Amino acid sequence: MVVVTAPGKLILFGEHAVVYGEPAIAVAIDRRIRVGLAANEGAQQRGFTVNGFELSPRYHSFIHRAIQQYYDDDGPPLTITTDSELPSASGMGSSAAITVATVGALFARMKKFDPASIAKVGFDVEYTVQGRASPIDTSTSTHGAAILLDDTARDALLWHLSRDDQHWYIHHQELPRLTLVAGNTGVHAKTGPLVAKVRRFVERSGFARDIVREIGELTLDAADALAEADHERIGALMDRNHELLAILGVNHPALERLVKAARKSAYGAKLTGAGGGGSMIALTDDPERTAAAIEKAGGEPIIVEVTTRGVTIEQSTEPDE
Ligand code: PMV
Repeated sequence: MVVVTAPGKLILFGEHAVVYGEPAIAVAIDRRIRVGLAANEGAQQRGFTVNGFELSPRYHSFIHRAIQQYYDDDGPPLTITTDSELPSASGMGSSAAITVATVGALFARMKKFDPASIAKVGFDVEYTVQGRASPIDTSTSTHGAAILLDDTARDALLWHLSRDDQHWYIHHQELPRLTLVAGNTGVHAKTGPLVAKVRRFVERSGFARDIVREIGELTLDAADALAEADHERIGALMDRNHELLAILGVNHPALERLVKAARKSAYGAKLTGAGGGGSMIALTDDPERTAAAIEKAGGEPIIVEVTTRGVTIEQSTEPDE
């Protein structure tokens, strides 16, 4: 039996611009997904199951893909169990966490547990299933703490990923203690069409390309502000990043309501992830008050702390191996 957990994530700076090679920063949050794998050998062999149901490409797309691609054909069928503290489709990285935890568990079974390989394979799985544009979610869930993703190598490099002619260098990002309140609008928005919408704008407009570049510059400023624990500056940069994302066309009235409400008790607030609905985040010293404001404005608040724990083996016991 192998049990591996992986955390969810929130993007602090640089979403969408990261698709065009600009830097982005994301943090891992103290809400995790747990995946258990046990060999299903013996008389009542029932094939692969997930929480008692037959493994299905439709209902367990990430797990299915990871197993199809990276599990030894000669291995016994697996009994898979999952457990999640993350709301799904909320911009908190539940797809990445389930993917990274599954890949981590498969690698732990093979005694090949290595974060750089897990991040690479995790990205491949998400990319194939979801058409994910950048590896930011899977790398954050793998490493924990915070990452800075960029198209060139800097100090504190963790690993390098590439696909076609795109390159991503994943770095550890220094962080002060941060209390974030996320606010889920409850408006479901798919990442793919939002990325496509921004791409159309960027391809035909020099103005949009300037916005993307400004997001990149602001993200590098934010990396310094984070390393210096300058909360005021981090908050101001979050506000500005939100305005720039709104210009790119990925804001939503429900998001704007939550952002405005949260700012009264926060250093700053912005949408997080793909936008068009989904979630926002606020950086605050008074999480209860910010959460109450988000709730009053119609959102579902979640107070989160950053976790330093990335993908982790929680249990690994024979005779399964
Ligand atoms: O869908 P989310 O919340 O994990 O974030 C998407 C982030 C984008 O930059 C818009 C796309 C990407 O793959 O980086």
